[in-house]
Amino acid sequence: MSILSGVSDFFGLDIGTSAVRAVELKGSGVNKSLHRYGQVGLDRKTATSDSKADQQRLAETIKTFLQQTGISSKNVAVGIPSNRVFTAVFDVERLSKEELKKTLKYQADSMIPTPLDESKVDWALIGDSPIDKTKVEILLSSVPNELVERRLDILESIGLNVIAFEPDNLALVRSLVLPDSPDAQMVLDIGKASTDLVIVMNGAPRLTRSIPTGTEAFVKAATQNLGIDQAQAEQFVFKFGLSKEKLEGQVHQAIISTVDLLVGEIDKSIKFFQGRYVNVPLQRIVVTGGASALPEFPLYLANKFGISIEIGNAWRNISFDPSRQNELLSISNYFGVAAGLAERNE
Ligand SMILES: Nc1ncnc2c1ncn2[C@@H]1O[C@H](COP(=O)(O)OP(=O)(O)OP(=O)(O)O)[C@@H](O)[C@H]1O
Ligand SMILES: [Mg+2]
Repeated sequence: MSILSGVSDFFGLDIGTSAVRAVELKGSGVNKSLHRYGQVGLDRKTATSDSKADQQRLAETIKTFLQQTGISSKNVAVGIPSNRVFTAVFDVERLSKEELKKTLKYQADSMIPTPLDESKVDWALIGDSPIDKTKVEILLSSVPNELVERRLDILESIGLNVIAFEPDNLALVRSLVLPDSPDAQMVLDIGKASTDLVIVMNGAPRLTRSIPTGTEAFVKAATQNLGIDQAQAEQFVFKFGLSKEKLEGQVHQAIISTVDLLVGEIDKSIKFFQGRYVNVPLQRIVVTGGASALPEFPLYLANKFGISIEIGNAWRNISFDPSRQNELLSISNYFGVAAGLAERNE
């Protein structure tokens, strides 16, 4: 899509499992201010189904939503769910740009899980390898063409012009973490269906993963273990979270083994990262998405890992009128992807 770069009026669009979110900014450089934003709920079927009818419904939902939000730009930067993106960070010899391209094409063919001619592949040079000073570190990503084309069809059918596709996790990094910190920071976006995990160092992602556990799995555990219906379980989970005092700790008890599955995966990623980047401390974990609203969940993570936990604020790089402070901060943990997409420098 780079032939269209240079567009300055565009908005960021996050098509999630439970909601569609959009953010449009004004201004340029580091002084961008919030122009318009909004979100609309989605049912799971409309959000994820492959059927033509569901995709049409999704397109209509987005169209109406944009009208209601007042977003008039036709140019959109759209997120790609991380669980459909393949990414790898690895070292290669220091080569000329041309040679590097050839080597990476060859490497990509053996690394990425989908056939090369059915995938959109991209790479970025991160910097020196942390292990071998004669090598450089590369970030390689690929997405299946079919996914990109499906999103393109949906968005073009409602008159939008897609200026960029970006993996959700890279958008999160832009909106949520300190750009130049030499220490490692982790972003965890725990959504409905899955958790995106990224570890960033010096502004560049060094490890990314998508873990197929999200708030839906917690709610399911509560439904089964407490013998209640889903609506009731959802209410309990978001009201009592991991508290051991509320409701005699029954909700905690019901969901803790599912929460610990996720915690175990996070722990594996930290260990993997620290095996490669020895002596780089993990400074903080920024948590965002639905689970960041669960009572005592951030505290639980802080105790498990002994690391400071921050709730992600999607507006941290964006200015807005102080009168909107309360309204915006109450939802700041849901807009990381949309804000990060809107902050791209096209
Ligand atoms: N206070 C709350 N009460 C009830 N449910 C809540 C509350 N806060 C968040 N949720 C639920 O949390 C879930 C996940 O939120 P989030 O918006 O992060 O997911 P998503 O972005 O749609 O999913 P994904 O990123 O996995 O595609 C949603 O099902 C949402 O309804
Ligand atoms: Mg999400």
